[in-house]
Amino acid sequence: MGVIFLLALCPIVLHHFYYHYLDGRSPSNSAIKSFCIKGCSNELRNQTLVSDIGISLAYASQTLLATVIVIAAMQVFWRRMRSRPIRISQIDALMNIRTNPFSPSFFRAVRASFSLIFLAMLAFSMSLLSVFVPGAIKISDDFVTSKQCTVQKPRNLTAVNVFNNTQSNSSTLSYTTPIITVLSSGSYLPPLNPCNEDISDGPIQCEYIIDFTAPGFDCADVTATSNSSGFTTPFIFQNSSDTFLFQASQPPQIGDLEMQVSVQTYDFKRAVYQAVNCTGVLRQYSTIVSHNTSSTIDAFESSIISTIQANASQLVTFPATYINDIISTLAGIDVEMIGNSGGRGSGISMTPIMMGNIGTFGLDGNMTWRDNMTIALEEFAQNATLSFLSGQIFSFDPEDPDLLESTTTTCTYTFTAYKYSPYRLFVPYGVAVLVTILCIIWGWSAIRRNGVEESMDFSRFLRAVLNERMYEAREYLDKNTKVRSEDTVEGDLAPISSNY
Ligand SMILES: *[C@@H]1O[C@H](CO)[C@@H](O)[C@H](O)[C@H]1NC(C)=O
Ligand SMILES: *[C@@H]1O[C@H](CO)[C@@H](O)[C@H](O)[C@H]1NC(C)=O
Ligand SMILES: *[C@@H]1O[C@H](CO)[C@@H](O)[C@H](O)[C@H]1NC(C)=O
Ligand SMILES: *[C@@H]1O[C@H](CO)[C@@H](O)[C@H](O)[C@H]1NC(C)=O
Ligand SMILES: *[C@@H]1O[C@H](CO)[C@@H](O)[C@H](O)[C@H]1NC(C)=O
Ligand SMILES: *[C@@H]1O[C@H](CO)[C@@H](O)[C@H](O)[C@H]1NC(C)=O
Ligand SMILES: *[C@@H]1O[C@H](CO)[C@@H](O)[C@H](O)[C@H]1NC(C)=O
Ligand SMILES: *[C@@H]1O[C@H](CO)[C@@H](O)[C@H](O)[C@H]1NC(C)=O
Ligand SMILES: *[C@@H]1O[C@H](CO)[C@@H](O)[C@H](O)[C@H]1NC(C)=O
Ligand SMILES: *[C@@H]1O[C@H](CO)[C@@H](O)[C@H](O)[C@H]1NC(C)=O
Ligand SMILES: *[C@@H]1O[C@H](CO)[C@@H](O)[C@H](O)[C@H]1NC(C)=O
Repeated sequence: MGVIFLLALCPIVLHHFYYHYLDGRSPSNSAIKSFCIKGCSNELRNQTLVSDIGISLAYASQTLLATVIVIAAMQVFWRRMRSRPIRISQIDALMNIRTNPFSPSFFRAVRASFSLIFLAMLAFSMSLLSVFVPGAIKISDDFVTSKQCTVQKPRNLTAVNVFNNTQSNSSTLSYTTPIITVLSSGSYLPPLNPCNEDISDGPIQCEYIIDFTAPGFDCADVTATSNSSGFTTPFIFQNSSDTFLFQASQPPQIGDLEMQVSVQTYDFKRAVYQAVNCTGVLRQYSTIVSHNTSSTIDAFESSIISTIQANASQLVTFPATYINDIISTLAGIDVEMIGNSGGRGSGISMTPIMMGNIGTFGLDGNMTWRDNMTIALEEFAQNATLSFLSGQIFSFDPEDPDLLESTTTTCTYTFTAYKYSPYRLFVPYGVAVLVTILCIIWGWSAIRRNGVEESMDFSRFLRAVLNERMYEAREYLDKNTKVRSEDTVEGDLAPISSNY
């Protein structure tokens, strides 16, 4: 009993370590052709194999544990034979329920010995292990793990000079190309993906948080204090009556050296006029960068640190230059609606820059502006800033071109992998092992009282019945004859004298 019990523990331990090994590894679907040629790791993760191995291990332990309980039941059977008289038909019933406790012999057996029925059911129910235990491993499509990783983030941009080169000057260099891309696409340039992919074979999502200081806009809605009729009243140009739809102007810098832009828009169809003043500021951004099939940046927080102050005609630092280029990009846009009197036709006239998510063409040819231009312009400047993470924007200083620096942070990876729930393995196994241990104790106590370890061998029965008293009673023996074993080591079976 003890040895088989210890053997039964081996598949259980093996099962735990196998699932522990699989935990966090991605399943492989490859056919098992090259079995273990390039190491077994790929095959061991094969979904079909994982399921087969799990069921096999559960089956092995379940069979061994059931065997232990059956051996204990044999001892209890012989204990029962010695303790009280039993009808021969009841012995038959007890023999039958050993293989199937739910056989028709059940009711006769219950009356003969409830203990044996109970043990038979315990042995039988060990098969539940292969039902419950393999459920401890599951394929989870959002398995999450964290790892240290090296990512790129903008360095201290206020310390970055745009150009320090006597050969060229700032007026010939500008960032307008990437800014126009951002404006017309309605999104930032996609960030660099520094996540190492060797964590899983399949698709993987990688996320990390970075904080940095970078330029942005601080916009205020000044519609109420602006001269709306001055903007929305059509003016005559080349005999047709035109209307401004979008204009941005850079007010002259006076003393304070703030970098400002004043934007006015008119939604002709809905007759909505908006005026927004934006000031260049330094913002502290907190962002979640996420990479999977596509890369996204979520700036979940951006607070204003300070106002950028610089003479627009003598730009030195990177943030001031970048904000200046955002402002001049906006100032370069002119959108007008041309009336249809005169020979110029009618429709929208605009500089060849698409307005991305700030303004869109309607199907009827009208231009529709974002309902809240304050938000739209701040978002646009933010998108231009988040584009730094693409690694495609450099300072013009040949001695110091990098805007980004490496930093170590924690990347969170989400991918499809095996997920092991140890409790779902240990609870069923634990209950089964505990039950088996109790059965062993029961069996041992029966062995002690029987004086010998019994078996259900035919020879054992032969020895028990080959005695004088059985021979003498041979004419009376039928199914209802009550018999009983002597309470000795031999356990000789004999009919109870009252029967004859
Ligand atoms: C960034 O650089 C500027 C100018 O060199 C310096 O004044 C400032 O303290 C730096 N900020 C940080 C956070 O290091
Ligand atoms: C520009 O470079 C020169 C040497 O090449 C250096 O002395 C000077 O401090 C630099 N200027 C700035 C503003 O970094
Ligand atoms: C800047 O560049 C422009 C065009 O290349 C040139 O006309 C101008 O003189 C330059 N200014 C300085 C201060 O170098
Ligand atoms: C900024 O980028 C985000 C993300 O792509 C986009 O949803 C948003 O509309 C963009 N805003 C503007 C004004 O382009
Ligand atoms: C608004 O602008 C129009 C046209 O530029 C001008 O005629 C009008 O006097 C202005 N009104 C105010 C209150 O400034
Ligand atoms: C504007 O109208 C005048 C007279 O009606 C005409 O002489 C002139 O050619 C027109 N100009 C244009 C640009 O159509
Ligand atoms: C907005 O900017 C315009 C142009 O610079 C200026 O005339 C106006 O006073 C500003 N409005 C506010 C409320 O600051
Ligand atoms: C900005 O610099 C230019 C040329 O260097 C100078 O003429 C102008 O006065 C400066 N502006 C301010 C507001 O200081
Ligand atoms: C990629 O990440 C985004 C943002 O986290 C998410 O909305 C999207 O569902 C992910 N796509 C895939 C294929 O995982
Ligand atoms: C814009 O919408 C108005 C009102 O629906 C319409 O009269 C006008 O023709 C449209 N503009 C253009 C350029 O189609
Ligand atoms: C635009 O959004 C800001 C911030 O949410 C809000 O304070 C402002 O009132 C909005 N303006 C309009 C015109 O809806």
